Amino acid sequence: MSRKLIVANWKMYLTLRQSIALAKKLSVHSRQFTDSKLVLCPSFVALEEVAKVVRGISIKLGAQDVEPEARGAYTGEVGLDDLRLLHVQYVLVGHSERRRHFKETDKMVNEKLRATLASKMRPILCVGEPWNVRRQGMIKVRSFIGAQIHKGLRGVSRKDIKRVLVAYEPVWAIGSGRADTPSDASMVHEFIHSVLPVKTIQVLYGGSVDRKNCGQFLRTPNIDGLLIGRSSTVFKELRAILNTAQNL
Ligand code: PGA
Repeated sequence: MSRKLIVANWKMYLTLRQSIALAKKLSVHSRQFTDSKLVLCPSFVALEEVAKVVRGISIKLGAQDVEPEARGAYTGEVGLDDLRLLHVQYVLVGHSERRRHFKETDKMVNEKLRATLASKMRPILCVGEPWNVRRQGMIKVRSFIGAQIHKGLRGVSRKDIKRVLVAYEPVWAIGSGRADTPSDASMVHEFIHSVLPVKTIQVLYGGSVDRKNCGQFLRTPNIDGLLIGRSSTVFKELRAILNTAQNL
């Protein structure tokens, strides 16, 4: 029986209406996916409506980002209190698109992660190396990822670390149609598990996962689940991935 976590990161791919429609379709099928946990991360605008659709069923909610400050003059930001009110349980922090397009630093990622923990939600710390690092080999990849994890988790107590999840997403694999190989990803996952102070932390793989390659990742023992972008926005794709997770 599989207990793998499937996190759907809808990014800015879907309109509000499309988000509601996809959540509704998934909710109809949610009883079939009892063995793997599904987390939907819609846009902030869609969170409230998607929250209504999934209330009381096994599908959980996640946010794509958060503002760590509690309240105040932060134009354009969305705070943790509102996420909690909407029953959001997971928050993506440090996604590579946030790091690249919005210049998020490790320090900012760490602030978001700690604020999420303080608000009793579970951060998913996203890490991953760019191609120019991967090209130089696995030793460089380890030191790059090790530094991101170390800085991302700075100041987090051992007790709180148990509620953190990590997503390994090689930057060059995201949205490129060129997923990592399960064996290379597994090597990085093994390394990530080895540097984490708590052995039970779930480490997800992300980067061009689709219905064809998901089984290989899901069958790899140290890959505890998937963080999926584009394929998770298409009902048939996501249903096929959930079916694969269910029938491992
Ligand atoms: P992708 O995105 O599945 O479209 O590559 C993954 C992610 O960025 O979380």
